[in-house]
Amino acid sequence: MAAVRVTTVKTVVDRIEDGGEGIKLFTLIDPERWELPPFKPGAHIDLHLANGLIRTYSLCNDPADKTRYMLAVKREADGRGGSIHLHDEVRQGDVIGVSLPRGGMSLPAHLSRFAFVAGGIGVTPFLSAAALLKRTGRNGFTLHMITRGPPPLADLLAPMIESGHVVIHDTAVVGRPDLAALIGPAATDAGIGCCGPESMIGDFEQAACAWSAEQVHVERFVAPPLPADPQARPYTLVLARSGRDIAVGASESMLQALTALGIDVPTSCCGGICGACKVGWLEGEPVHRDRALSPAERSRSLLVCVAGSASERLVLDL
Ligand code: FES
Repeated sequence: MAAVRVTTVKTVVDRIEDGGEGIKLFTLIDPERWELPPFKPGAHIDLHLANGLIRTYSLCNDPADKTRYMLAVKREADGRGGSIHLHDEVRQGDVIGVSLPRGGMSLPAHLSRFAFVAGGIGVTPFLSAAALLKRTGRNGFTLHMITRGPPPLADLLAPMIESGHVVIHDTAVVGRPDLAALIGPAATDAGIGCCGPESMIGDFEQAACAWSAEQVHVERFVAPPLPADPQARPYTLVLARSGRDIAVGASESMLQALTALGIDVPTSCCGGICGACKVGWLEGEPVHRDRALSPAERSRSLLVCVAGSASERLVLDL
């Protein structure tokens, strides 16, 4: 089977620590202890696991810490197998290939205040942002953690709970907080962010509707369902490098069409949120439908798990 070329970085599991109920904290390093590729706060990487799965996790350490990637993984017994493999099979010293870091937050200097809202393990992308902000003396941030019972990653959070940067909202004690009150009114000097279950993200997006998009960062770890597109039409997918044409049916996904032709595209979420299946496009008019690419990225790339085509012919850089 032909495969889309993927750049991976070889890492070794240096430490595995207990992160609280059902959570393990993995530290990955370069085998020779060189620096790892840099990342922005809240960025994520794909882990290429020994069982063939590719799974995406947020980095939770300070981006200034160039020798480690730290990931907190919750064991999802009803998940798709990645977290179970990491919890049950992976040991200290194992080698794991990882992708280059993708995504993350910009935290531009003209923003002096930040309010982050996290549900449970959704705290991970904001831990690296909080570490960067604290280290650089930008102390005007609050990370609101909404949990039911004790918070995960209690040891990592303890210093920031003590400093008042992390506020725990235990819904078993105080009920569900009003997200609009937590983020406050839209302000030009502030940034806000959310990561958690889809229902929380929906409430957050509603509470944040008056904010400009550049000030809002939303991170999903579960892909929302993709509604059927009534406008979808059949089209021809042209692979520029191999010169092959594929007829894609109106109800078929680009990923299905590529896979049927024997082209192995790396995938993780299969729902347009992780970016693992990104490929370049050269001609035509893609319909993107992802929640991961920026407008600049969309001008040259698409995510084949969710993208379609508005033109009769779409040329990929494959
Ligand atoms: S597999 Fe995650 S965006 Fe396509």
